[in-house]
Amino acid sequence: MRIDHIGIVVEDLEAALHVYETALGLPLAQISEVPDQQVKVAFMPLGESNVELVQPTSDDTGVARFLEKRGEGIHHVCIQVDAIEAALERLKAHEVPLIDEKPRQGAHGRVAFVHPKGTHGVLIELVEHDPP
Ligand code: CO
Repeated sequence: MRIDHIGIVVEDLEAALHVYETALGLPLAQISEVPDQQVKVAFMPLGESNVELVQPTSDDTGVARFLEKRGEGIHHVCIQVDAIEAALERLKAHEVPLIDEKPRQGAHGRVAFVHPKGTHGVLIELVEHDPP
């Protein structure tokens, strides 16, 4: 297992890239719009992990409400697992509340979110990468 990425929610992706790419020097791998989550995302490799900058593109999503309530900052930590179904079963067996009972398709593989009320305040995303 490893940290796949750290998700940081931002008001303005361009302004955030000015800091993370231009000033801090992280390489920009990809910018994409994810219409079904209503976000714009920049992916920046950092060692064996990545920084994911996330800008909401509408007001009525979980990430938009997070930004409104808590402001900019770390939103989630994504952990790569080998078998996402098994990981979810194990969490359920230990009564950890899940946001996604079943994995759904994300940009790089199947993902599921674990509820922060069960993980001591941290929103955790699990990802099982698609085979290359
Ligand atoms: Co993420």
